[in-house]
Amino acid sequence: MNRFGLSVTVVVLPMEKDEALWLAAPVTETEETIKEARWVLFGSSLTTLGLVLLLSWLLAEGLNRRIKTMRHLAQQVADGDFTKGVPVQGNDEIADLARDLNRMAEMLEEAKKEADRYDQARSRFLADISHELKTPLTSIRGLLEALRNHLVKGEDRERIYFLMEKETIRLIRLVQSVMELEKMRAGKMELKMEQFPFYPVLEDIVDQMNILAEEKDISLIIGGNPETLVYGNEDRLRQVAINLIKNALQFTNRGEIRITTWNEKGETWLTVADTGVGLTEDQSRDIFERFYKVDSSRATTTGEMGLGLSMVKQIVLSHGGEVRVESEPGKGSKFIIRLPLKK
Ligand SMILES: Nc1ncnc2c1ncn2[C@@H]1O[C@H](COP(=O)(O)OP(=O)(O)OP(=O)(O)O)[C@@H](O)[C@H]1O
Ligand SMILES: [Mg+2]
Repeated sequence: MNRFGLSVTVVVLPMEKDEALWLAAPVTETEETIKEARWVLFGSSLTTLGLVLLLSWLLAEGLNRRIKTMRHLAQQVADGDFTKGVPVQGNDEIADLARDLNRMAEMLEEAKKEADRYDQARSRFLADISHELKTPLTSIRGLLEALRNHLVKGEDRERIYFLMEKETIRLIRLVQSVMELEKMRAGKMELKMEQFPFYPVLEDIVDQMNILAEEKDISLIIGGNPETLVYGNEDRLRQVAINLIKNALQFTNRGEIRITTWNEKGETWLTVADTGVGLTEDQSRDIFERFYKVDSSRATTTGEMGLGLSMVKQIVLSHGGEVRVESEPGKGSKFIIRLPLKK
């Protein structure tokens, strides 16, 4: 404050000798400017703060909404509904989480479908096997009752015993086949594998079945290469050929059954072709299923169980090969088997 009552800012600059230059300016204007600057600073800080708060709120709200959608999905999954998904937005961590959640829901949905399929197959299997067991058991029970009530006399008793034995054998065959199929399907059957000539095995089977073929006036012809080799379990591969030839004989009334085998490109081929009743496209697809029979009423009287071809398929699969059928109704069927030879 100087003697005129004004606030001044004084700057003293030293000069030569003992002199100094004094500069004085009133402070009021500077103070005004500083005050104004303070207000501007305060205002802009407030606006920035407001903007930052608004942005944070928007960001938090966005995240919140995305997390809420994911929580909702998690709740649906917990309730057993795996069919829904969440939208994947952007490329951040939350988007990754959403993607993982969607993938998890898809995997659970697939597992659920698989479990349903397994459940249906199990129910169908139980229904089929109960039906198959019921037929011989009912028959045995009827025969036993006839014996107990002394309704059968003399020679007929022998016939009753024969029928009971036949039904019992059928029961044992059924149970054994189902157990074998299951063991093979689960990969629990140990098979001794070796390379051996296939042709003599087929000739042997044809020799055994010739009587049956002659009875029906059907020619059983074996062809292909007599030197054919096959790699696998001899008993099981014999069973494959027997089942196919037996079927061909069962479902052919006239003509011929031609069995052919050969080696080609490190593989063994076997075909069994007949001139029998043939199959439609749907039947051709289903015949490898357990217990499937085109004509179940016929099977009840002839004692067929519908297990022969599922056994063939399972054995061929356990040898790393494949089986298929080419057929047309009324024109016969050709079963084709391909087996790998050991390298
Ligand atoms: N060569 C064929 N020609 C026409 N139909 C066939 C032939 N082979 C099989 N089938 C049909 O496929 C069904 C299933 O055959 P599969 O050998 O599995 O059972 P199955 O012969 O009825 O009974 P199983 O062999 O257990 O005694 C048969 O019931 C038959 O209807
Ligand atoms: Mg059969």
